[in-house]
Amino acid sequence: MIEATGITKNFGELKVLKGVDLSVRQAEVVSIVGPSGAGKTTLLQILGTLDKADSGQVLLKGKDISKLSPKALAAYRNEHIGFIFQFHQLLPEFTALENVMIPGLIARKRERETKERSKELLAYLNLSERAHHKPNELSGGEKQRVAVARALLNNPDLILADEPSGSLDSKNKEELHKLLFDLRDKFGLTIVIVTHDNELAQLSDRRIRMKDGIVLQETKENHSFFP
Ligand SMILES: Nc1ncnc2c1ncn2[C@@H]1O[C@H](COP(=O)(O)OP(=O)(O)O)[C@@H](O)[C@H]1O
Ligand SMILES: [Mg+2]
Repeated sequence: MIEATGITKNFGELKVLKGVDLSVRQAEVVSIVGPSGAGKTTLLQILGTLDKADSGQVLLKGKDISKLSPKALAAYRNEHIGFIFQFHQLLPEFTALENVMIPGLIARKRERETKERSKELLAYLNLSERAHHKPNELSGGEKQRVAVARALLNNPDLILADEPSGSLDSKNKEELHKLLFDLRDKFGLTIVIVTHDNELAQLSDRRIRMKDGIVLQETKENHSFFP
């Protein structure tokens, strides 16, 4: 699903990524852990086509995304990748339903179908009652579930999440973690999560530890014990 090789990235003099290799299989849940400043967010942004590596290659489903024009890249991203951020990044002026619809409208899908699918997703995430509320009228957990619905709207293959439970209390955190694994089980989604949360990292199929722009170690866990 993802094959990244030799990824480097500098911001001026600062070498943020110093040759990162990472491969992730379809329907795998991988967490990236490591101290602040290690380059985790930068790597996730590059995997998600939001930023470009200085050198190295990213293949998504065998496709070399560095070869795409900016316009093709934006379309590819909108169609295939769902993003979940720590601070949900919902648009404050729009209702939950409208926020979920945005990726569909960007993809120029029919409004009626987009609305139907958005409502289905909100129902799936137990948010039907909240559909017409704006973000400031929603709890932290609700906002993050709206962000998950938005990430799912275009049926992505890949979800990239940057500290998705970083601003949630423990109950909402647990719910969100369960949701991510449900999504993998139900839809075969591939999920890469940057997290400081040990529990979430433990639940993942694989943990990747980064420090100072390199991958330190990969922990493979055998999940056959946890059916
Ligand atoms: N756009 C940018 N411009 C300059 N420096 C950046 C930029 N983005 C990140 N950095 C720096 O790169 C380093 C790694 O950042 P980041 O990838 O956000 O790490 P992490 O997510 O592991 O905390 C940090 O030192 C950060 O200050
Ligand atoms: Mg970060």
